[in-house]
Amino acid sequence: MHYNPFKPSAGHTPPLLIGRDHDIEDFIEGLDNGPGSPTRLMRVTGARGIGKTVLLSEFARIARERKWEVIRENASKGLAARLLSRLQPAPRGRHEFTVKPTLQVGETAGSLGVYHYQSAEQMPLTLSEAMDRRIHELEKKGAGLLIAIDEAQAAERDDMIAISTAAQDMNINNRDYALVFAGLPSMSSKWLNEDATTFMRRADPHMLQDIPLDEVKRAFEDTFRESGMAISDTPLHMAVEATYGYPFMIQLVGYHIWSSARRNHPDTPTISVEDAKLGIGKALTRLGDTVHGPELDSLSPVDRTYLLAMAQDDGPSSTSMVAERMGKEKNYAGQYRARLLDAQVIEPKGYGLVDFAIPYLREYLREHAAYYRMNAESTD
Ligand SMILES: Nc1ncnc2c1ncn2[C@@H]1O[C@H](COP(=O)(O)OP(=O)(O)OP(=O)(O)O)[C@@H](O)[C@H]1O
Ligand SMILES: [Mg+2]
Repeated sequence: MHYNPFKPSAGHTPPLLIGRDHDIEDFIEGLDNGPGSPTRLMRVTGARGIGKTVLLSEFARIARERKWEVIRENASKGLAARLLSRLQPAPRGRHEFTVKPTLQVGETAGSLGVYHYQSAEQMPLTLSEAMDRRIHELEKKGAGLLIAIDEAQAAERDDMIAISTAAQDMNINNRDYALVFAGLPSMSSKWLNEDATTFMRRADPHMLQDIPLDEVKRAFEDTFRESGMAISDTPLHMAVEATYGYPFMIQLVGYHIWSSARRNHPDTPTISVEDAKLGIGKALTRLGDTVHGPELDSLSPVDRTYLLAMAQDDGPSSTSMVAERMGKEKNYAGQYRARLLDAQVIEPKGYGLVDFAIPYLREYLREHAAYYRMNAESTD
């Protein structure tokens, strides 16, 4: 008996990682070309559920394959301190860390491998020292260090300063390491305007996009077959079209179709049109609950009003028509358009036109319009 091969949950490696060949090639090229290769410093951005975390996992796997050490962290508050503690070598002959609370700023408990810092200004120095030592050890074994930071949009300024300063020291010392940041698109606008992190500007940008449908088709065919389910052209076509190439939806659709088939006819391992319909319906409900709802909740009331105005169209919306529907000046509406473009909720579709960038968001908004209108009025 096979398990359901699809993985519709955040951070779970999918049965087939599709559509990311170029990003992976760039990463490998960076590792293989040595320190100073442009793709040793990368920034991966994209909408929720596009596959950033899963791509970091793949990078980590590749690095480990080369005997590299990998440190993965989320960028929440205290990032630099956590990195620092993970870079400390385990104290020899001891199983416990001892931190002397009396240590002075900058003083290190060298023999114990414990650093103590007391201020944000101090942090870059100690982080840089710790990185340098750790990488130096790894280099002796012919390996390097990958630091992968997820949810980078949440990083605090001091943490970013500490990390970028340390990274620049590593560059000066020609150390064998790679640094990858992944986060929502807002991370770029947030950090790239900061003087202190101009270093991020040099990070190789990888903006993850939806996956071409022919690749989705091949992946579905292979995954269903390998998990003991046959799928013929019609249900396969329905499944592929329903995903819009959105990675999270690929997993949702695959998962729910597979599971409907298993439940409805456990003894016939063939996906029917009925299974496809049922599965797609379930996948849509899940998508609304886990993506559309939270995404809309994270926007401002006016952002949502803009989207509601767009949802009245069946295809791309004219920006002046949206402003008119909102009862606002074009300039005013334009500010919200810019914010929504930046957040990759909408995308430009030729001169004066925008469209939804998240699949089924239009349909979701129409279904929940009453709720969101009420919400907009009460918070305005
Ligand atoms: N290249 C891919 N091919 C197939 N499925 C993928 C791919 N990338 C991601 N997925 C699937 O999409 C879902 C979301 O992936 P992941 O958690 O990596 O997204 P994310 O961009 O990190 O989202 P978030 O911003 O919410 O953290 C998971 O179910 C994962 O298995
Ligand atoms: Mg993620």
